[in-house]
Formats: sequence, C-alpha cells, structure tokens
Amino acid sequence: MQHNPCIRKTVPIRAARPLPAKSTPGAHSQQATDVRLGHIVRLLMKHATVVVSGTKIAQEISSNRSEVWRLIQQLRGLGVDVAGHPATGYQLKSVPDLLLPEILGPLLRGTIFDSKVHHFYKIGSTNTVAMAAAAENAPEGSVFLAEEQTAGRGRGAHSWDSARSTGIYCSVVLRPALPPSNVLVMALAAALAVHAAIEQVDARVHPDLKWPNDVLITGKKVCGILTEMNAEATRVRYLVVGIGINVNQPSFPEELENQAISLRMVTGSEWSRVELTAALLKSLDHEYRLLIEQKEARQSILRRFAERSSWVREKKVHIEENGSRIEGTTEGLDESGFLQVRTAEGVQRIFSGTVREMN
Ligand code: BTN
Repeated sequence: MQHNPCIRKTVPIRAARPLPAKSTPGAHSQQATDVRLGHIVRLLMKHATVVVSGTKIAQEISSNRSEVWRLIQQLRGLGVDVAGHPATGYQLKSVPDLLLPEILGPLLRGTIFDSKVHHFYKIGSTNTVAMAAAAENAPEGSVFLAEEQTAGRGRGAHSWDSARSTGIYCSVVLRPALPPSNVLVMALAAALAVHAAIEQVDARVHPDLKWPNDVLITGKKVCGILTEMNAEATRVRYLVVGIGINVNQPSFPEELENQAISLRMVTGSEWSRVELTAALLKSLDHEYRLLIEQKEARQSILRRFAERSSWVREKKVHIEENGSRIEGTTEGLDESGFLQVRTAEGVQRIFSGTVREMN
C-alpha cells in the first residue's frame, strides 16, 4: 500500500471479452463466485425466521440436496453463519457481511449503481476488471467488488494489501462528459464521498484528506483511491475510480503498521462493510451527479476538500517525483484541484507525486 501519483492514463484495452455477469466469475477472476451462493443467501434472508429445507433450496437453485450441502459448506468457509445440516434444513444466524448484489442491491435503489453490482470472491484487481469491462462497453455505474484481491494495485505501481473480507475493494465505471483536465476534481470528489460515508456510519470518526485523495486517520492511511481513465485529448471515454478502505483488519503487517490503519483499529469494534459500502456508493452517486449537473460543483468540491484536509494549507511538505524534490508550505488548491506549494523559488503547482510532511 503506498501513496502515489494521482491519475494514470491508460491505453485502450481491446481484448473482446464478455462483461462478467453479476455475481458470476468473469474471464478475469481467479476464483469463481458461484451465482447459486448469492441465491441461497437471498433465500435464507427472505425466510430468516424459519428453517428452510435442503429440498426447497435445491428446487430454487435447480440442483440436489448434496450440492446444496456443498454450497452451504462453501458459504460457511466464507464466514456466513448458517445453522443446520441436510436432515434438518438450514437457517441464517445473522445477516452476512458479504458485498453480494443480493444484499447490497436493495440499498442502492435510485443511484447510478442500481442493479449494476458485480461481485467476486477472489480477483486480481477490481480496477483491472473494471477497466476491461469499460473497454467492452460496461454501462456507467457498473460496480466491481471483491472480497479479496490477489493483485490489488495502488498508485504509482504500488500494491494494495487486500486480505479477504476485511477491507472494501471497490471499482466503479463512470462516463462523464468532461475533458481529462476535470478528472482530478472527480478524484477529489471520490475522497469526499469516502469521508462522508465514514462519518455517516460513525459520527465520532473524522478522517483527514491528504491531496490528492488519500483518507487518513491519526496520520495513517485508512483509504486509498486509484483513478484510471481512457481519454482522448479533449474527452474522457471512461473513468474507473478504485477505492480501497481498510475496515476490519485487526492489525497490519510490520512493514505497513506505521502507514496503515483500519476503522476497527480506530473505534475498537467491527464495522459493517455492507453498510459502509452502501453509504460510500450513495455518497459517490451524490458527488458525481453534482459534478456533471451543476456548474458550481467544482468550486464546492475544492472548498469542501480543503475544509476536510489539514494538508491543503500551511503544511510544511516535501514532494518527491521522478528524482526531483520540492520543499515548501502548502497554499491551497488551484481551480483545477492541483496543490499549490510556496517554495524558495515561488509558488509551484504540484501535478503528481507523494506529499509528505517535513519533519
Ligand atoms: C493508493 O495507492 O492509495 C490507491 C489504492 C487503491 C486501492 C483500490 S482497492 C480497489 C481497487 N482495485 C485495485 O487494484 N486498486 C483499487
């Protein structure tokens, strides 16, 4: 997990692969999400107060009882608390905190993400899949979520620690009618959406935003955002905003413990990933609509980002990028969202690079 330059322009991906179906394995997944798992969870949730027979479940998924038993065992392996066995039938003990379309979908009604959630148990990178899907005409609002990433990517070719079912690994496809120069503002808006979602779920937690779009708590990273796009000189074809949130990690490996923190480590209790993901996507929907529909949105995003950031003004920082080093004091964002830093040579605009506090 690292802090890296902000926006990476990618070449078009031309491979003609079909868009992965919701909750089914795509050509890109390392481990298939069996669509029947989602159906079983939905069925058990619908009949939460009663025991559902293996025969009934088998009928619903057009299979047999021994296959149902095998799938129930898989669900248990994924942490879903199901009581019972083939002779007695099955019952959910609690609503599982899995980001399945069947669970998340109803919470996203009316947003651009409604009915467009794609779920994977294990995948290389949700951003990679989302970029490939966008190249194959995935509609705006397509969401790619994984319980685990085996090749999670951060900015600047760093990796993103993506352990199973502890974090949120989420990438969304957007198709804004904006020039590429406006994409930075969208990336800042994504950080605002994360900020709002965290505060909405637990009003005691007040994250700090670090330019361009890291979300920090006590100076450590709780969320990173990787924005990638495919664009012509004057027009964005599509944008993928990839968001990684550290939610329920009890701790981090030694090499990350000085940089990373999870929400659970902050509050001392587990967070619902379903609740936080729904809050995040609703918030992102709100910010995105503002940006594409309202002229004043850009000013509002820049202002609100600055209000929620201890980094944008009067912070002594250094930035290293491509072997050069800039040192100075931050002086706000310019009208495009670039960070301004007063140095010994005058005010410089920072286009990319990792901003670090001077010791
Ligand atoms: C950063 O370096 O701060 C950006 C990290 C972005 C991680 C997220 S997790 C979901 C999406 N898929 C990826 O491979 N990366 C992004």
